[in-house]
Amino acid sequence: MKDLHPLAGVRRPLGEATGLPNAHYVDPEVHADEARAVLLGTWAGLAVAAQVPEPGDAVPVTLAGVPLLLLRDRDGQVRVFQNVCRHRGMILVAAPRRIEGAIRCPYHSWCYSTKGRLVATPHVGGPGRNVDERLDRSDLNLAEVRSHVWRDVVFVNVDGTAPPFAQAQAALIERWAEFEEDRAGALHHDGRSFTLEVAGNWKLAVENYCESYHLPWVHPGLNSYSRLEDHYHIEHGDHSGQGTRVYRQLEVDGARFPDFAGLSDKWDTAAEYVAVYPNVLMGVHRDHAYAILLMPDGHDRTLEHVHVYYPAPVADATLADRNAALWKGVFEEDVFVVEGMQAGRHAPGFDGGRFSPAMDGPTHAFHDWIARRMGA
Ligand code: FES
Ligand SMILES: [Fe+2]
Repeated sequence: MKDLHPLAGVRRPLGEATGLPNAHYVDPEVHADEARAVLLGTWAGLAVAAQVPEPGDAVPVTLAGVPLLLLRDRDGQVRVFQNVCRHRGMILVAAPRRIEGAIRCPYHSWCYSTKGRLVATPHVGGPGRNVDERLDRSDLNLAEVRSHVWRDVVFVNVDGTAPPFAQAQAALIERWAEFEEDRAGALHHDGRSFTLEVAGNWKLAVENYCESYHLPWVHPGLNSYSRLEDHYHIEHGDHSGQGTRVYRQLEVDGARFPDFAGLSDKWDTAAEYVAVYPNVLMGVHRDHAYAILLMPDGHDRTLEHVHVYYPAPVADATLADRNAALWKGVFEEDVFVVEGMQAGRHAPGFDGGRFSPAMDGPTHAFHDWIARRMGA
């Protein structure tokens, strides 16, 4: 029997399912439809709050083609607006900067408060007249986008239709409850953040991150102490990934990072790596955590922004340098497979591929989620 929906094959049981068709990787139109459903219609990662440490700090970020403005308002609250002036649609903030006073549009100088309120419209009523009774300023505030900060990641729901973040990601929040900042202590962002540029569709980075199957071949260094058999799968409706039972803390000259407070024994040797659908990859360990924001730049290019966090401000630069270099090395090892799978998706004979029933459950879970979001 022929499946009616183009993604019906993805929704079959793991052993019979096919992966997402090539068009989801190589066709800009399909990519745009998909982006609307899975990047703008859910809670996607946009940035981290540490990028706007002080009131007035503003960073423009584009998500799936939508220009957004990440901002810390005058009272210290993180907010996200559409980065566009309500007058003639000029981009408001073109580069990261600290806003002193108000956000001033560079075109005709309409000004907005850091809470998005239109506060000044010079000469709008003619020379020397800064108001015009025909124009009601009160409905010309900036369009604010729903945002929610979790583990320092600023998640946004651009189309406004998603359930509250705490509901959408309830299972993962519960899974990692021990790491919540009110229990484990604050996350301290390390300045050694870095970005990788990858010539591949953002989903391939998720798919690869979810599984440990590739460890022996792609990460022989990691695999030497954390073997395939030390890993377990994590699968859930809105996140999936893997965990290891043999996390070994980094040690340099007898020094280690401190631990997060109050963790249970499980975390003495466990670590978990989870894709928070759609585009955030997170890792937690007893002594550090990280978040990777996958920012699509079109259908075939992705920027991976990696942010590392510790339980306390970094005291030992050697240790932190080493840890950042370690992770950079691991993530760089993954680049050639993401780029290779992207290139492979131009082969018309590729039907989306198959999944190892034993090893690829978490990757299939992601495809299944995409297919569901797209109505399959
Ligand atoms: S477009 Fe912004 S003030 Fe005219
Ligand atoms: Fe990997």
